[in-house]
This record gives sequence, structure tokens and C-alpha cells, in this order.
Amino acid sequence: MLNDNKIRELIENAEKARTRSYSPYSNFKVGAALLAGNGKIFTGCNIENAAFSPTNCAERTAFFKAVSEGIREFTAIAIVGGKDGEEREFCSPCGVCRQVMMEFVDPKTFEVIMAKGTGEYRISTLAELLPYGFKPDNLGN
Ligand code: THU
Repeated sequence: MLNDNKIRELIENAEKARTRSYSPYSNFKVGAALLAGNGKIFTGCNIENAAFSPTNCAERTAFFKAVSEGIREFTAIAIVGGKDGEEREFCSPCGVCRQVMMEFVDPKTFEVIMAKGTGEYRISTLAELLPYGFKPDNLGN
């Protein structure tokens, strides 16, 4: 379980990453901050594309940055998102991002922090967000 300070730090990092969102098509700006097992924080933003389907979500950007740096153990991710000037909702990770998380974390303990801001957030485990998920175990890995 994360303490309040760590949750706040992750949300602040996600907010900062959100300012770098490249989202000229949806104008929906997302930031994520992924906490690694070694205490390091990897951030990510959504990166859209004129061809639409190559768009990468903020969560996957954070995961791919970390994994490409040799890090494969994670404990939590904070996510913030919304259009500028509109009231924020809790930003819930898409199905593809949930599946990417499933590859690298223990779904029973990995915490997904969906935040409106530092004061308002909700936390679910990945197992709650992706029950009966397909994971490396299923291939005997
Ligand atoms: N998006 C994310 O980055 N993460 C989410 O959890 C939800 C959706 C992005 C993808 C796209 O650039 C925009 O938000 C609208 O779907």
C-alpha cells in the first residue's frame, strides 16, 4: 500500500507529464507516472498521430520507457486526463493499456491510481480492472 505522500508525488508527476501531451486530434490530454520497484518514477503522455491508430496512450508510453531502460518491476501507476478547460473525471486506463500492465506486474498488488487532481483520486488493483486477464503464466512463462 502506498502512503499519501507517494500518491501525491505520483499524481504531481503525472500532471507534469500531461503538459507534454501531443493530442491535436482529440485534445484529450493524459499524463501517467509509473512507480518502479526500485523507487524510480517513469512518466508518459499520450502521443497521437494523423493516422490515428499509431496513437500511444500515456500509460503505455510510461511502461515502454521504463522497460526499454531495463526496468521490469512496478508497484503503481497514477493517471490524470481530460480536455483543458473542462471538468476532470477520473481517468481510467483503456483495455490495451490494462493488458500491457498485465505483462509486467502482479495484478493482485499493482495499484492503479485514477486521479482528478492531487486531492481526489481512486485506487483499484489491476486484478479489479482486468479480471481473469491473460498473462505470461498462461503461456507457461
Ligand atoms: N488516452 C490515454 O492516453 N490514456 C487513457 O487512459 C485513455 C485514453 C488517450 C488516447 C488518445 O490520445 C486520447 O486519450 C483520447 O482517447
